[in-house]
Amino acid sequence: MKIFIDTANLDMIKEINSWGILDGVTTNPSLIAKEGTDTPTRVKEIAAIVDVPISAEAMSLKAEDMIKEGRELAAIHPNINVKLPMCIDSLKATKVLSSEGIDVNMTLIFSAQQALLAAKAGARYVSPFVGRLDDIGAYGTDLLGQIVTVFSNYGFRAEVIAASIRGPIHVLEAATLGCDIATIPYNVLLQMVSHPKTDEGIQNFIKDYEKSKKK
Ligand code: E4P
Repeated sequence: MKIFIDTANLDMIKEINSWGILDGVTTNPSLIAKEGTDTPTRVKEIAAIVDVPISAEAMSLKAEDMIKEGRELAAIHPNINVKLPMCIDSLKATKVLSSEGIDVNMTLIFSAQQALLAAKAGARYVSPFVGRLDDIGAYGTDLLGQIVTVFSNYGFRAEVIAASIRGPIHVLEAATLGCDIATIPYNVLLQMVSHPKTDEGIQNFIKDYEKSKKK
C-alpha cells in the first residue's frame, strides 16, 4: 500500500520524506488555510521538495470553471493532480481533464456508488472519507471494502485512497482491505512507529549494554 501524507505543512512533508516511506501528498483547502497560504503557492513549494504526486484542490463549482482551474493547477508542476469534490459538474470536468492526461482525485466520497461514477468518468484516484463517516455513527472502513470490491469486479484503474484517517487502526483496515493508498496525517504516522513493547525493549537493551560495559 502506498503512503501519502495528508498535510500542507512543509516541515512535516520533509520529515516523513526523510523516513523513506513517502509516496504522495494530499492537501485540501482547510489544510492550506491552516498554513496561512494559498493552494498554487503551497503546492509549488511542495513540488520543489518532494518528487511524488501532490493533490491540489480546485474550488470552482461549475464544470467549465473546474476544467480551467484544473488545467492551471496541473500546469504548476507535472506531479500535481487535481482534487475535485464529488458532484455532477466534477464528473463532467473529470471526463475532460482525464482525457487531457490530467489526473483527478475525486474527493469527499461517502458511498461506493459515488466512487463507481468517479471511476467511470476517468478519475485516477477516489478518496473515501473514513473518519467523517465514523463521526456520524457509520462504519467508515466498510466503505473502503465496498469500493475495493467494486473496482476489482470491473477492473477499474482508479486507485482507492483511504482518506480522513484518524488513527493507526484505520491504516491497518485500509491495508487489509486492499486499498491502494492511505493518506495519513503526521500525528498518525508518528503513532504507527511506536509500540510500548518496542520502547521497553530498547530501554532494557540499553540498561543491559551499560551493565555489560562495566564488567
Ligand atoms: C483527503 O485527501 C482529505 O484531505 C482528508 O483526508 C480529510 O480528512 P479530515 O476528515 O481529517 O479533514
